[in-house]
Amino acid sequence: MPIAHPATDARIESLLARMTVEEKVGQLGVFADMVRPFAPDVNPEVNVSNAAQVLEQVRAGQVGCLFNGVGAAQGREIQRVAVEESRLGIPVLLAADVIHGMRTVFPIPLGEAASFEPQLAERTARATAVEATAAGLHWTYAPAVDIARDQRWGRGAEGAGEDTFLGCAFAAARVRGFQGEDLRAADSLLATPKHFVAYGAVAGGMDYNYVEIAEGTLHDVHLPPFKAAVDAGALTVMTAFNDINGVPASANHAMLTGVLRDAWGFPGLVVSDYTADMELVAHGYAEDARDATRRAFLAGMDMSMQSGFYAEHLPGLVESGEVPVALLDEAVRRVLSVKSAIGLLDDPYRSLDPAREVDTSQRAAHEALARDAARRSIVLLKNEGDVLPVSRQARIALIGPFARDVDNIEGCWTLFGDKSRYVTLEAGLRAALPEGAALDVVDGCALEAPLDGGIESAVAAARGADVVLLAVGEPQRYSGEAQSRTRIVLPAAQQALAEAVAATGTPVVVLLRNGRALALEGAVRDAQAILVTWFLGSQTGHAVADVVFGEYSPSGRLPVSFPHDSGQQPFFYNHPRTGRPETPEMTEFKARWREYPNTALYPFGHGLGYGRIEYGATRVDAPALEWDGSLQVRATVANTGARAAEEVVQLYVHDRVGSRVRPVRELKGFRKLRLQPGESREVVFTLSRAQLAFTGADGRFAAEPGAFDVWIAPSSVAGEPARFELLASR
Ligand code: NOJ
Repeated sequence: MPIAHPATDARIESLLARMTVEEKVGQLGVFADMVRPFAPDVNPEVNVSNAAQVLEQVRAGQVGCLFNGVGAAQGREIQRVAVEESRLGIPVLLAADVIHGMRTVFPIPLGEAASFEPQLAERTARATAVEATAAGLHWTYAPAVDIARDQRWGRGAEGAGEDTFLGCAFAAARVRGFQGEDLRAADSLLATPKHFVAYGAVAGGMDYNYVEIAEGTLHDVHLPPFKAAVDAGALTVMTAFNDINGVPASANHAMLTGVLRDAWGFPGLVVSDYTADMELVAHGYAEDARDATRRAFLAGMDMSMQSGFYAEHLPGLVESGEVPVALLDEAVRRVLSVKSAIGLLDDPYRSLDPAREVDTSQRAAHEALARDAARRSIVLLKNEGDVLPVSRQARIALIGPFARDVDNIEGCWTLFGDKSRYVTLEAGLRAALPEGAALDVVDGCALEAPLDGGIESAVAAARGADVVLLAVGEPQRYSGEAQSRTRIVLPAAQQALAEAVAATGTPVVVLLRNGRALALEGAVRDAQAILVTWFLGSQTGHAVADVVFGEYSPSGRLPVSFPHDSGQQPFFYNHPRTGRPETPEMTEFKARWREYPNTALYPFGHGLGYGRIEYGATRVDAPALEWDGSLQVRATVANTGARAAEEVVQLYVHDRVGSRVRPVRELKGFRKLRLQPGESREVVFTLSRAQLAFTGADGRFAAEPGAFDVWIAPSSVAGEPARFELLASR
């Protein structure tokens, strides 16, 4: 699957023929962009040089890519040095971690996945690409496509949650969005599915920890989102920090070469995560820097980020013959082919237009998109007594440390967001209320500590209100890289605030802020209504106001299961069946905990709106699915409520008997519908054998004939199944 055409091939071959080994190795080097750095660094400081040193390296042909700098004008200067002052004039790739927005910040990826609208993620990724390329970037280290089945892991916030089918849909959509239709366009941003692979499976949910994983789980759960991203046209992949059954992912020949290149035909380049080659020594997988370089390179890692290991050791390894020069050429060819594919060899100043950088003509459209994406990401978990939507005439107390907070709006992975445009909860609610409306705003406590008199003022405000909007949750630095938790609960000071406010008896609507599923406790769990608002980005306040006042009926569904208790982790809905399935009666000697059932408090797929949605029975058009045939599954979905609503109709299957124990249910389709009051619609999904395949006991990925259950349902635990038989091939 070549990515360059013959004329470009000739140009790349002619460059290769003229390059010294050092210049070839130079193309494989990725270093921090100290020419145009930004304030908060997200990586540990390793080998950081100053701007003059970086430009000198560029001049010497020692840099393939600079990352995490920003700015079009200085980007032109970097490129001018590369093109005019380096011997071969090869332009540099300019990359950054632009995960869920550039200047305009969209919801964290986990939150956006709750929309169950991949096409929405495609649009926010497109807008992000437009802004990032205007700021002098070619390449983003996104999307993260790691499947997170353990909510203690903080990086679940960066992905699409616990489910592989949903993860694949979002992975592909985000790649399409970042890259757009034409890779050579000035606003096309190269995407990087990461972290390859099984990073979400770190033991105990502790970041950077080891991964012990069954082959079937690796292939059926963690690899598919990468395949989906590659099939959607991703030309770069980033390795992971973790090992996989003892072999570090960044030196894993079976994965980087066997799966990615040989089995999938991936034509692009593999970049290491930050110092991941260096870390092979700490893993105890390589003896020293030279050994680490050799192992990572021979496994299939093309570009080395920040360690400087390739620059230092690859030339010697080529000289000694331990690394064949043909393999070095292959890696360089891949890097040059990617540069060529985005038009950089033809126009080194692509995406480096200072006029575009200051152009704000797209801003209003991007803000409108951010508001819509944010409100579509909100999940309504419960709404007792229809306390939501709130009347604009009600006396409202907005209480909690997030009420006027502006530092916990963007979420864990925003480097370049324009903070001056962030809308707080208070600002959003005020903008939606008439002049003089009764809105009392009280912090009540700080994020992690009580405030003097905080509870007293909160209680007084609650007493004087018809309804409390309680803005509590996790500080944003609780999620993201290196932010693993043992207990996925609210900070104690916030829980105490919630208890005191609830004791007033005024109805409470929790506005939960969170980068993962949480184990809700006490007054937060028992509040009349709960809205999961994640970290929603620039337009947070407006989006929440839209939902609170009923301008928008919530349509998000959980992409992660909310457990009863932290100790249930890892908890995910599609777990294998046990030999002693628990019973609703909590019978002894069944698979459950002493304290809790083996269920979620709020399961994957759950979410309510302001309509009342009812599902008819799931029906199959025929009792059997022929081996090469297809089968239609249908159900009627009706809105019997008084308000219009959007419903996420979900298709699940369960293979009743397999050569390996099968999950209790697996998502195989979803569709979001808008239903007017009184409207009903028949929803039809088509199943074929491909959707039923898994890695069987013989190691082959195939469907197995036999009986299946199928549900069309509003969540991963709802509904009654229909049954069909997959017939063996004749
Ligand atoms: C480390 C993170 O794991 C990765 O996601 C990120 O792209 C790099 N740092 C570069 O900042």
